[in-house]
Amino acid sequence: MPVSELESAEARAAAAGGETKREYVQRIFSEIAPRYDLLNHVLSLNIDRSWRRRAIAALEWRRAPGGTYLDLCAGTLDVAAELARRPGFAGRVIGADFAEPMLRAGSGKGPPSVVTPVAADALDLPLGDSTMAGAIVAFGIRNVANLDAALHEVLRVLAPGGRFVILEFTTPRSAVVRALYHFYFHRVLPRVGAVVSGHRSAYEYLPRSVANFPIEEDLAARMRAAGFGSVVWRTLSLGVAAIHTGVRP
Ligand SMILES: C[S@@+](CC[C@H](N)C(=O)[O-])C[C@H]1O[C@@H](n2cnc3c(N)ncnc32)[C@H](O)[C@@H]1O
Repeated sequence: MPVSELESAEARAAAAGGETKREYVQRIFSEIAPRYDLLNHVLSLNIDRSWRRRAIAALEWRRAPGGTYLDLCAGTLDVAAELARRPGFAGRVIGADFAEPMLRAGSGKGPPSVVTPVAADALDLPLGDSTMAGAIVAFGIRNVANLDAALHEVLRVLAPGGRFVILEFTTPRSAVVRALYHFYFHRVLPRVGAVVSGHRSAYEYLPRSVANFPIEEDLAARMRAAGFGSVVWRTLSLGVAAIHTGVRP
């Protein structure tokens, strides 16, 4: 089988979940790490920056400005660095990701005394129970092989009252927006992604993984089932992304 076909088949299998997803995701993010930031900002027309800022605001870190916060699936540490730079933030941020090249690509973004990158799997965090004042994940939880296990792991490390914020892509409900979105996500994005990153399957995997991810109501239900309280969500940019929040009781 030609490499490109093999990669596409792998992407489809990985996006549908299953045994190989963990290895696949770890490999593709390790491979695209040097170009990840550039592509992120180009492909999202830079809207991703404002989405991350809104997700950080939803974390309500001002309730505990000196606490330790988890940036889960931190990638190149954009969220961790942005939180560390917020005026009045006096705590620490642990940026956990299992693709070390992503963490390395983001090194130097946040003050080293505040941001600590940690190579770790979201399903087995090297953090004690109830140690995090809050946790946030941006465009990461969709990639984790076992969503429910990841929700339980976040709940374990959160202190009582700690908030968990999920920023993730969603499929727009409006038929017009959905048509435009599908054209962009399935036709434009994989081509631009392939040219700039040299990695075709990674940017075919993205739209498929979004299509396979639970819709907003279902994600909220999974958060509640995992044990989160006060679960709410709101959509961003015509329903292209959503921010969910939940609190550890
Ligand atoms: C789309 S990137 C998002 C990175 C960053 N949060 C951002 O906002 O740009 C997804 C990240 O999730 C990480 N990831 C996926 N599954 C993971 C897991 N089980 N444990 C740790 N990191 C994981 C990948 O390595 C990748 O860096």
